[in-house]
Amino acid sequence: MCKDLNYGFNEILEGNKDWVEFVKNDTSGRFNQLAKGQNPEILWIGCADSRVPANEITGRKPGEVFVHRNIANVCVHSDMNMLSVLDYAVNVLKVKHVIVAGHYGCGGVAASLSRNQFGIIDNWLCHIKDVYRLYAEEIDAITDEEQKTDRLVELNVKEQVFNLCTTSIIQNAWKNGQPLAIHGTVINIATGELIDQNCTFTSNEGLGNIFAYK
Ligand code: CO
Repeated sequence: MCKDLNYGFNEILEGNKDWVEFVKNDTSGRFNQLAKGQNPEILWIGCADSRVPANEITGRKPGEVFVHRNIANVCVHSDMNMLSVLDYAVNVLKVKHVIVAGHYGCGGVAASLSRNQFGIIDNWLCHIKDVYRLYAEEIDAITDEEQKTDRLVELNVKEQVFNLCTTSIIQNAWKNGQPLAIHGTVINIATGELIDQNCTFTSNEGLGNIFAYK
């Protein structure tokens, strides 16, 4: 390995030593317990962006958040990766909250507002262009590019929450009386705030007729 690359990787291994020390000094027995299994109450679906780590932002410890991240926190009904995470979280771990977390200044959302090609990712970002289509009038009325992106970040979160609610997984959990809330939030990276988008669903109410299964 070239020297530069070795340096970066060695730093990671060094960083782990601090963590090992921390775990060793923890007298609560928490880590021995965690080694046997997990029991998180939260599923976090966030952006893959390096600036939005789920645990740090929510003040949760290891074992407390089940995490799925992809570019621009998109929830697509045919994404086996997302569906597998959701199914495991809801039906095995029995999480009580699913949190979709977007963030202002999201590169994926900004890219989806342009007409530029970026490669294979264009097909993924097209899901966000679909969100834009629903709110084109509102988005087009915003002249500032940053504000345009940030508004679409918020609307994207709202629509991904809706998408989650209509999956067979969430629908059946509600049908079976499982307590489960789906929330939409946006992170302000500059201030660290996690901002509730007030689009929480705890049942089919408000989903619209054809989206609520019997
Ligand atoms: Co992002």
